[in-house]
Amino acid sequence: MPDLVQVKYKGLIEEHILDFLPDIDHKSITLYEAMKYSLTAGGKRIRPMLLLAASEFAGGKLEEAIPYACAIEYIHTYSLIHDDLPAMDDDQLRRGQPTNHIIYGEAMAILAGDGLQSAAFETMNKDMLLYFDDPGKLKKRIRAAHEIVKGSGCRGMVAGQVADIESEDRACSGEMLDYIHLTKTAALIVAAIRAGAQLGGADAELLNNLTTYAENLGLAFQIADDILDVVGSEEEMGKKAGMDTVKKKSTYPALYGLDASRDKLMELTDNAVAALASYYDNAEFFVKLAKDLSVRGK
Ligand code: IPE
Ligand code: IPE
Ligand code: MG
Ligand code: MG
Ligand code: MG
Repeated sequence: MPDLVQVKYKGLIEEHILDFLPDIDHKSITLYEAMKYSLTAGGKRIRPMLLLAASEFAGGKLEEAIPYACAIEYIHTYSLIHDDLPAMDDDQLRRGQPTNHIIYGEAMAILAGDGLQSAAFETMNKDMLLYFDDPGKLKKRIRAAHEIVKGSGCRGMVAGQVADIESEDRACSGEMLDYIHLTKTAALIVAAIRAGAQLGGADAELLNNLTTYAENLGLAFQIADDILDVVGSEEEMGKKAGMDTVKKKSTYPALYGLDASRDKLMELTDNAVAALASYYDNAEFFVKLAKDLSVRGK
């Protein structure tokens, strides 16, 4: 059953992912092509799926959450384009395809990331403008957008990317490593879930429980990504393996070893699942997703 739910969410995202990009004229066609290239290169769509699921779980209408789901995928995709740049992780393969800067050049890749980021905020703002006469719905949208801004910016993903870069090639404490992972990766996952929950009108208790789930899932997600970088293959990841070692990144396997990293991944997955235990089968989508993602790091 949950597989069908995943298919439903993913199908909606694939159907609408290009719908909210700003209109273009012939002068901005290269920018549009570069943005579209990375958006349609075949991501797993974890963050927008979580946003749609949280919105529905909290009692919201699925179709009303679609602009916000696409917005968070625009931000995630921009973060990947910039993450792959020579000045950052210097990667040539992403989502099984050459990275954006390999196809369009560095300048255009930077601009495509910039364009996707502003497209995300334009998408959410445009949606809010439709609800001026409905303060209840407008408030939910303002709260959702605030979650996304907070998670993606200088206190969230961007802060984490800064710490990740600054921790290359140097000894890093366990506390610092968790800070990096919680900001560069978990913050956007938390934002996706909280934004969805806000759109659906979640009460404080549900918001709290979903947040605990998301924090554990977010940290687990980056640990699994770090483990896969060591033991995974290019085919299964759609990106080159072994790059964290080449770049001397601070990662769970580097600091604690593979076995302890796997133990931590399992512990965090259990914590994520436990946070939603009181909802029983109703939380099946979230439980299945957490378990599926943890299996990637086994
Ligand atoms: C990659 O995220 C970046 C990390 C935070 C590890 P995903 O693994 O969700 O990448 P896509 O969207 O499926 O390509
Ligand atoms: C990236 O972490 C997190 C982002 C904010 C993009 P990584 O650098 O480990 O992600 P991959 O391995 O390149 O996907
Ligand atoms: Mg990186
Ligand atoms: Mg990277
Ligand atoms: Mg990685």
